[in-house]
Amino acid sequence: MAVYVNQIQQLFTLETKNSTYQMGVHPTGVLLHYYYGRKTGRESLDYLYECYDVGFSGNPDEAGTDRTFSLDTAPQEYSGSCVGDYRLNSIGVRNADGTGAVDLRFISYEQSKGKYGRKGMPAVYGSEKDADSLVLHLKDKATCLAVDLWYSVWEDYDLITRAVTVRNETGRTLHLTKAASMLLDILYGDWEILHFHGRHCMERQPERVVLPHGRMAFESNRGTSSHQHNPFVVLCDRRTQEDFGECIGVGLLYSGNFSIQTEKDQLNRIRLVAGIQEKDFDFVLEPGEEFETPEAVMVYSGDGFTPMSQKLHRLVREHICRGKYKLARRPVLINNWEATYFDFNEEKILDIAKGAAELGVEMLVLDDGWFGKRDADNSGLGDWIVNTGKLKGGLKPLAEKINALGLKFGLWFEPEMVSEDSDLYRAHPDWAVQIPGRKPCRGRFQLVLDMTRKDVRDYLFDMMCAVLDEANIEYVKWDMNRSVCDAYSALLPPERQGEFYHRYVLGVYELYERLIARYPDILWEGCSGGGGRFDLGQLYYTPQIWCSDDTDAIERLKIQYGTSFAYPISTVGSHVSASPNHQTGRSTPFETRGIVAMAGTFGYELDLNLLSDEEKGRVTGQIERFKKYYDVIHFGDYYRLTDPFENELFTAWEYVSRDKGEALVHIVSTHVLANTPQFGLRFKGLQEEAQYEVQVWTDGKIVKNQKAKVLSGAVLMHAGIVVPAVWGDYKCSEIYLKRRDCACEPEK
Ligand code: GLA
Repeated sequence: MAVYVNQIQQLFTLETKNSTYQMGVHPTGVLLHYYYGRKTGRESLDYLYECYDVGFSGNPDEAGTDRTFSLDTAPQEYSGSCVGDYRLNSIGVRNADGTGAVDLRFISYEQSKGKYGRKGMPAVYGSEKDADSLVLHLKDKATCLAVDLWYSVWEDYDLITRAVTVRNETGRTLHLTKAASMLLDILYGDWEILHFHGRHCMERQPERVVLPHGRMAFESNRGTSSHQHNPFVVLCDRRTQEDFGECIGVGLLYSGNFSIQTEKDQLNRIRLVAGIQEKDFDFVLEPGEEFETPEAVMVYSGDGFTPMSQKLHRLVREHICRGKYKLARRPVLINNWEATYFDFNEEKILDIAKGAAELGVEMLVLDDGWFGKRDADNSGLGDWIVNTGKLKGGLKPLAEKINALGLKFGLWFEPEMVSEDSDLYRAHPDWAVQIPGRKPCRGRFQLVLDMTRKDVRDYLFDMMCAVLDEANIEYVKWDMNRSVCDAYSALLPPERQGEFYHRYVLGVYELYERLIARYPDILWEGCSGGGGRFDLGQLYYTPQIWCSDDTDAIERLKIQYGTSFAYPISTVGSHVSASPNHQTGRSTPFETRGIVAMAGTFGYELDLNLLSDEEKGRVTGQIERFKKYYDVIHFGDYYRLTDPFENELFTAWEYVSRDKGEALVHIVSTHVLANTPQFGLRFKGLQEEAQYEVQVWTDGKIVKNQKAKVLSGAVLMHAGIVVPAVWGDYKCSEIYLKRRDCACEPEK
C-alpha cells in the first residue's frame, strides 16, 4: 500500500520507499498541499502551513471574518483562476458568461490498485502490484465544472505520476484555455532549477539557475517538444550534487507544445506548474465532454541526482517503453545517411551492406531518399512509393539481398510532412497546414501535413502499410524535420482552431498506435532532426530516439550527458560516424567514436568500405564488445562520473550491472596536457567487500603490466584509480571490472 487516507483528518499521504507526499482538505474545501520530501511517516504535516494575514492577499467568502486564509498564500494541489490566487494558475477557462473564474473545492476521493490510463495518449503502465492510485474529485460550486486529480504511486521507484481530467458539467459550452497536468507548491527551502535547453545539433544542455522571484518558463510552441527546451526539469536544493541533496525530477509524457513554469512568490514559496502550453491552446468542451491532460511524473531523491536519474531510467525501461525491443537486444546497425546522403542506388547500398556484414553489423537502415522524386530535400515527401530510378527492382529484392547477407533491413519515413513538389501535394494541397489567405512558412523546403485529420492519417497508414507489407522491413525510423506553425485545420470550425496543436499530437499518437499494433515486431526509432522530439511520451511508442544530428563524439559527450538526467542509455540513438566529422570537421580516434556510440543504441553511419584494415578490425572488436557489455550498458545503473561542462580535461561515465557483478568505465580525454599531472577517478555503485578483477584498456588495447589486478569495491570506490595518461587528441580508456565470483567472462 502506498496511498493512505485519513478520513477524519481528510488527509491524503502518498508514500514511496524514500519519500512522502501529503495533502489535506482545508475547512473551506480547498485542497492544500503540505509536504513533498524525504519520508516522514503519515502524521499530519498541516502545521507546516501557518495562516497569517498577508496584506493585499484577500480572503474567500468561506473564511468569513478570518483574514488569515487566502488562496493567494495557501499551498495548493491545483490552483484556480481569477478568484484571488494571483500566482500561476493550473486551469484556465472562458465560461459561457465570458468570465475566466474557476474556484475548486474538494468533493470526494476514490482509491484503486494499479494504474489509471490516458485515452489516446502515452501513460506509464503497470499491474496492480506495481502501483496504487488515488483520484480526488474537485468541483467549482458556482459553475459545476469538475476536475479530477489522478495520482499513481510507484513505491519502488520513488515516483508519483499525475494527470488531470476536466469535465464540463456546467450545462453550457466552455472554452478550456489551460489545463496543467500538475502543480507543485513548496513551502520552504533554497530551490534551484536544472533545465535542459538547446538547438538543432546541440540538444539538452543542462543549465542550473537559482529560482528568482517572479516567473520563469521552459516551454515549446513549435508543435513538438523541441530541440530548444525539454519537457523535463529538476527542482533541486542549492547544495544538491550527484550523490548528495534533495531533488525532484518533473517530466511530461507529451511530445507537443508544453510549458513548465515556476514562480517564487512574495513569501518566497515555490510553485511549479507543468502541462500543455497555454499559448495557442483553446479547447471547446460541450456540456458533458471531458478533457484529459497528458501525464506528468515526479521522481524524488534525497541523495542527489544519480539516484533520481537511475529511478527514472528504470521506470522508462520497464513501464514506459513497450514492445519486443523493450527487452530484446537491439541489432547493431549501419545507416547510410552520412555515408551517401541522397546520392545512392541499389548497388551502392548493397556495397555498404556487404562491407558492414563482413565486419559483424546486423542491420542496414536505408535513410532518406528511397521514395518519390527525392534527390534533394526539396521534393518527394508524401509520396511513399519506392523510387525505382534509384532502386531498380524496388524494395523487396533489395531487402532480400540484404537479408541474404545476414542483415536485417530498416527504412526511414517522415510521415508528417509533404513537399510542394510531390504528387501528394498536387492532389491534396489542402492537407498541408496553412492559414487561408496566407502563404505558409516553409521549413527545410517542406510543409506539415494536417495530422488532426483522419483522412490524412488513413492515407499515411495505407501508404506505410503498403511499403511495410511489400518487403521484410524490421526497423522504421520516423523522422519529423521542421517546427510547426501556421496552425489551422480546414476541418475545424473557427472556434475550435485553438485545438489544433493538441489534436496534431493526438493524431501522431493515433497513427503510431495503429502501426505498432499491426507491426509489433518492428523496431521503431523516433527522430526529429535528431533529438527535437526526445521526450517521455515519444518513448511509449519508440523505445529509442535518434539523439542528435550532431554525430561528433566530443560534442556528443555533452549532449548525452544532458540527456542522461532523464533518459536511459537504451533510448539514446548513437552512431559512429566519419572523421573528420561532417558537422564540426573535428578528427576523433575511431575507438573514442566507438565508446561514445556505445553509450546508446550503437551503430555506424559511414561507409565502412572506406576504412583502413586496422580500422575495420576495430569495428569488429567494438561490435563484439558492445554485445558482450550489452546487459551492463542497457540494463545496468548509469553513473555520470564527471561533468563535461566543468571538467575540461576528460569526461567519464560508468555502467554497473544490477547485481554489481560487472562494471564498465569509459573515459574520453577532451584536452591533453604536456607534462601532465595525474588525475584520480572513483568508481561508484560497487559492493564494498567484493573483490573485482580490473582490466584497463587505452585506445582499444589492453594495458599490459597493470600494477593492480584485483581490488576491493571499497578501494575502487574510495581510493579510486589513476586515469590512464594518453597522448594525442581525444583518446579514450576503458576499465572493466568483474567481481571474482561473477559468472561473466572478462575479455582475454
Ligand atoms: C534528419 C535526421 C537525420 C537524417 C535526415 C534525412 O535530419 O535526424 O538522421 O535522417 O533527417 O533527411
